Amino acid sequence: MSDATTPAPNAKASCQTPPINRYPTTAQWREVDDYFGATLVTEDEALTATRISSSATTMPNAEVTANQGSLLGLLVKIAGARRVLEFGTLAGYSTIWLARAVGPFGCVVTCELDEGNATIAHTNLERAHVSERVEILVGPALDSVRDLIDSGTEPFDLVFIDADKPNNPAYLDATLQLTRPGSVIVVDNVVRDGAVVRSDSTDPRVRGVRATVDAIAANPHLEATAIQTVGVKGWDGFILARRTETP
Ligand code: DHB
Ligand code: MG
Repeated sequence: MSDATTPAPNAKASCQTPPINRYPTTAQWREVDDYFGATLVTEDEALTATRISSSATTMPNAEVTANQGSLLGLLVKIAGARRVLEFGTLAGYSTIWLARAVGPFGCVVTCELDEGNATIAHTNLERAHVSERVEILVGPALDSVRDLIDSGTEPFDLVFIDADKPNNPAYLDATLQLTRPGSVIVVDNVVRDGAVVRSDSTDPRVRGVRATVDAIAANPHLEATAIQTVGVKGWDGFILARRTETP
């Protein structure tokens, strides 16, 4: 039933359709994200292709939005970060934002559990021309960062924690061993549709987030805040923390 004006079902346009959003959102939240995304933030073809490729990963559509990716890039630049560590690569969407922000002399080390995801990410990083400044460590992130700690790697200037949430407290512990006073720490997905306030939650992801909040609150060497967000990814938020200068 196709004619000159109706694209065939297998036309290229279908490849450009973003993955179906699996987060509850409202038309208004989406419209505002789209407005700022269209006016302030440029998602180039390499990033769009990366976002679309996330449907082939083990967690489709879990990548940050363009607006959030831009925030990560701005934080890297504002902090003057040259060395960035990321927990959770998936298709490499946030990795590309981070890698572009560190510049040609910077580097991003990103931890990914799944070999297939890492392969997808590698292709995306190449397309974005940043693969030379990114190292993907494949395997359980706690093993990878243990190796980094044992090898006495230089401290990271910014760490983005965005992997499996139950392990967040352990990722924070490792982060504290891999950073220096002044380093910036960002923790994604800490609101989870408001579930974070439920102290009796049995959801291991919520418990992981709450334990991380408690650990940050109890650590005199960290200053932090948490910001709620709404948008195409629903109701969520992030923690922004910084290691204080005092010993
Ligand atoms: C989840 C993880 C993410 O990194 C994300 O951005 C959204 C959801 C999750 O574990 O559910
Ligand atoms: Mg996330």
